[in-house]
Amino acid sequence: MKEHVDVIVVGGGVIGCSIAYQLAKNGVKVMVLERNKIGSEASSAAAGILGAQAEIDEEGPLLEFALQSRSQFSELVEELKEETGIDVELIQKGVLKPARSQQEAVLLREKVKQHQRWDRDVTWLTQQEAVEQEERLSPFLAGAMYIPNDGQLNPAKLTEALALAASYHGAIINEYCDVRSLIYVENQIKGVITANQVIHSDKVIVTTGSWAKQLMGGLLPKCNVYPVKGECISVTTRKKVIECTIFLDEGFYLVPKTGGRIVIGATKIPHSFNKDVSVHGVMHLLQKAKEIVPSIGEAVFERHWAGLRPQTADGLPYLGKHEEYERLYMAFGHYRNGILLSAATGIFMADLIQGRPVSPYFLEAFRANRHHIHT
Ligand code: FAD
Ligand code: GLY
Repeated sequence: MKEHVDVIVVGGGVIGCSIAYQLAKNGVKVMVLERNKIGSEASSAAAGILGAQAEIDEEGPLLEFALQSRSQFSELVEELKEETGIDVELIQKGVLKPARSQQEAVLLREKVKQHQRWDRDVTWLTQQEAVEQEERLSPFLAGAMYIPNDGQLNPAKLTEALALAASYHGAIINEYCDVRSLIYVENQIKGVITANQVIHSDKVIVTTGSWAKQLMGGLLPKCNVYPVKGECISVTTRKKVIECTIFLDEGFYLVPKTGGRIVIGATKIPHSFNKDVSVHGVMHLLQKAKEIVPSIGEAVFERHWAGLRPQTADGLPYLGKHEEYERLYMAFGHYRNGILLSAATGIFMADLIQGRPVSPYFLEAFRANRHHIHT
């Protein structure tokens, strides 16, 4: 069977679905090809923190893109609710970064000053103020940085809502459709070959996260995307234990979800494509959780899982078009922040593909053909 669409999106994670939604909304005939179920990989494993300032300290394009994306969520979430009825459970109660020693407090207070340049609402809470805000926090902490405008949501629901909204605007969503290769004639992309189909399109966007290298392979030899496994657990409590997300700079966090769930994450294991959850990983997460919120021991264990973050050698995503293969676009490598960056990525890529002006600063910083060292 031969089909033809305007744009094929390969990969039905949050990034592919966000781009498909923005394109379909603008009248483009889009087809999403996902080899499993929509959102079944990193996009449902994520904790869903919209941590522009919790996760990124360095001034530059990533922070600016993240702040832009964070600011787009209120509207996007409303829009998705209206169009699909899906509530993506956006919670805007901020992120608290506790200091576990006086030394850490000094460093975090410096960070507060630095972050106030980007958002004046970021503040320092003394130990007493922090415990007043979150009464179950350990009394042994030495204060906390408070980032009120970082939020969190349910990433699986966000991905599902984006895909559903895209389909309401005419996008075709094909699950269990494994793309085996791209079709090109000389340097022109013509479509894709799946396990049982040839599909023609004017443009192809690769959004296959940690698996981007497999598909791009020879077409982008210097592109270095690799998986960083993250293990998570969740627990439930009858009464709410914490209100805002608690985040340590080493990448450990507790995220209070609706219905008394708390997501506790996450480990970082580079170059692992397996998604086993080790006893060591779970013990590490529980120990950290107990250190920060001692009463967590009373919670009921719910489940464990792991996902693969798509990391790149320079820590920046690849967003843009291929400079040698015409009509080929890429949007992958969002590492720890793909949920956060999904709103801005969808709009940026749709603008680029449809020929609307995009920020030259982001275009240059995230260009797909930038060269870097192999790790
Ligand atoms: P994915 O969700 O992995 O989607 C890629 C899709 O492509 C997959 O569904 C895969 O099946 C499909 N695919 C691959 N190859 C093919 C092929 N050949 N044909 C068809 N389909 C294919 N980010 C945040 O912003 N906040 C967080 O709190 C957060 N927490 C995280 C916690 C953990 C434990 C992990 C693992 C990640 C976390 N992240 C978080 C990061 C975030 O999950 C990722 O950056 C984001 O999901 C990447 O989205 P994606 O669409 O690029 O990749
Ligand atoms: N952003 C949280 C994580 O990647 O674990």
